[in-house]
Amino acid sequence: MKTKNNIPSQLIALILAMTLFSQCNSHKANEPMNTVIKDNHSYANPSESIVTHLDWTAELDFEKHIIAATAKLTLDNTPQVKHVILDTKGLNIVEIKNQDGETLNYELKPEDPILGSALLIEIDPETTEVSITYQTTPEAEALQWLTPEQTQGKVKPFLFSQSQAILARSWIPIQDSPGIRFTYTAEVTVPRDLLPLMSASNPVEKNTTGTYHFEMKQPIPAYLMALTVGDIDFLPLGQRSGVYAEPSMLEKSADEFEGLENMIAAAEELYGAYRWDRYDIIVLPPSFPFGGMENPRLTFATPTIIAGDKSLISLVAHELAHSWSGNLVTNATWDDFWLNEGFTVYFENRIMESLYGREYSEMLAMLSLQDLKAEIIEISATNPADTHLKLNLDGRNPDDGLTAIAYDKGYFFLRLIEETVGREKWDAFVKNYFNTNAFKVMTTEEFVEILQRDLIDENTVGLDSTFYQQWIYGPELPANCPQPVSNKFDNVEKALSNWQENHDTVTLDSSYGSSQWSTHEWLHFIRLLPENYGIEEMTLLDDAFDFTNSGNSEIFALWAVQIISNQYEAGYPNLEKFLVHTGRRKFLTPLYKELIKTEEGTEMARAIYQKARPNYHSVAYNSIDALLK
Ligand code: BES
Ligand code: ZN
Repeated sequence: MKTKNNIPSQLIALILAMTLFSQCNSHKANEPMNTVIKDNHSYANPSESIVTHLDWTAELDFEKHIIAATAKLTLDNTPQVKHVILDTKGLNIVEIKNQDGETLNYELKPEDPILGSALLIEIDPETTEVSITYQTTPEAEALQWLTPEQTQGKVKPFLFSQSQAILARSWIPIQDSPGIRFTYTAEVTVPRDLLPLMSASNPVEKNTTGTYHFEMKQPIPAYLMALTVGDIDFLPLGQRSGVYAEPSMLEKSADEFEGLENMIAAAEELYGAYRWDRYDIIVLPPSFPFGGMENPRLTFATPTIIAGDKSLISLVAHELAHSWSGNLVTNATWDDFWLNEGFTVYFENRIMESLYGREYSEMLAMLSLQDLKAEIIEISATNPADTHLKLNLDGRNPDDGLTAIAYDKGYFFLRLIEETVGREKWDAFVKNYFNTNAFKVMTTEEFVEILQRDLIDENTVGLDSTFYQQWIYGPELPANCPQPVSNKFDNVEKALSNWQENHDTVTLDSSYGSSQWSTHEWLHFIRLLPENYGIEEMTLLDDAFDFTNSGNSEIFALWAVQIISNQYEAGYPNLEKFLVHTGRRKFLTPLYKELIKTEEGTEMARAIYQKARPNYHSVAYNSIDALLK
């Protein structure tokens, strides 16, 4: 068929389609510019100029603890643009050029202690690229440079980054806002005896040049930029998964993560295809400040989850789940952090249920509820508004939002919706939510809208506007919070009262099966011990179960609180070892808090901290500094 002027209609259709496609494409990674959401934790001006791609070239100096780099940023500008504004923190800017190699004027604004310094670069609408040549400082907050002694192998140095929430700007000048996504490539040069890895396509072994190339094809926010370098080896676990670690940790780590392919399959079965090609894990040195970090394609993990019996593997389920909740559908600002973490705890729990059964996942949910209740009591005393799911972190460090509220209140909120509408409807909704919002940002308000539009109608009893008001914008824990059920925990409670009566290990096993207990049952048991339990009682428990020498970090960290509160001296050497060796903040904070409750404890805390502090990442030592101040 021909149109009047003899152009084939197919051609017109093609031209039309191409025009439409190119229009969509120009803002491919991001929302149309006028809908960019205000982020109080970034100086960026995405509504005028937005970063869509990064080419990062870097050379690492392990003597000086400096990265010398060029960040070439591709920009998408509005016709009126005069500046692009980037986030930086402690960077030494050398020069800035445009795509034609012309030098650009810039201004580095005074540094805010939390947000860092805005970098204003003069551009015009035709500036498609800015190339920033710069150096990091040894104090760059995201980076921890480890001496050989601080590694497992003790021979070679190590480096890792931790960018979330707003520390990417301390090693890359970038628009450091979770609502701004970009693709990236990197060319990284390291000493020839070390291997670099990023949140991107990764090498599996060292080469002879020391220069490596990386590519992340899917657009990601800056908080997912990640780099680690060390004497690192790789073992495949399956077709699309594997594990990296220092040589001496590699076998153990591979054993612990043996079921990883099944876990990915279980996650996909629940909520749709894994969209990042590969899923690998790196087991970092013990100073890594978190349990895990969901860097795309390469989860960063603490070695404290390598328990030898796979008992702490739910952490991997958690980081894997972030490949959907967080990395695909991303909290628009840190005030919406619960959308990342609450969804992830929910998804983690479902993965664990499908792999290990409901009994198992209900134990996790019980522990989560206990954490939540304790956290609510603690936060309510000082900052009741911080118990709302939707936070207001304006003027504060987004780190303040890292509490059990986002994680566990978020989890129970979603679980309540599941229980109200039924699992089938809910799962279909969630799968569709991840799909239709993939590579997009999400605000709490938009989530509520989508929920109401796609899942909840007027007939859904109990899910009206008061419901959102209470759970999302209200304090504490609403009365309709779901209650997990765990027969195993009921059994542990009975076992404990029996133990209190007769201190008899034989009945503990014969009547309550303690020799078969999982880590989670032991955790419940230890959590239930009275606060000032007494040295004699602790000695009896130790004689029977040797908690003081437990190789399970979760069990030891909990027991260590008792060691402190009871001044149980038999536990002091291991307590000190643990605090000096481990930099995982979740373990450190409760222990130092417990120590500083007494005068002797405070003295002990200071003495230990003096030795321990050089081993901690800034995220950890900033928190502990504040405690001991
Ligand atoms: N993304 C978080 C860690 C994080 C959050 C770092 C905010 C910095 C700012 C990660 O997924 C996480 O939640 N880690 C937990 C794991 C646990 C809940 C299974 C951790 O590190 O303990
Ligand atoms: Zn998480």
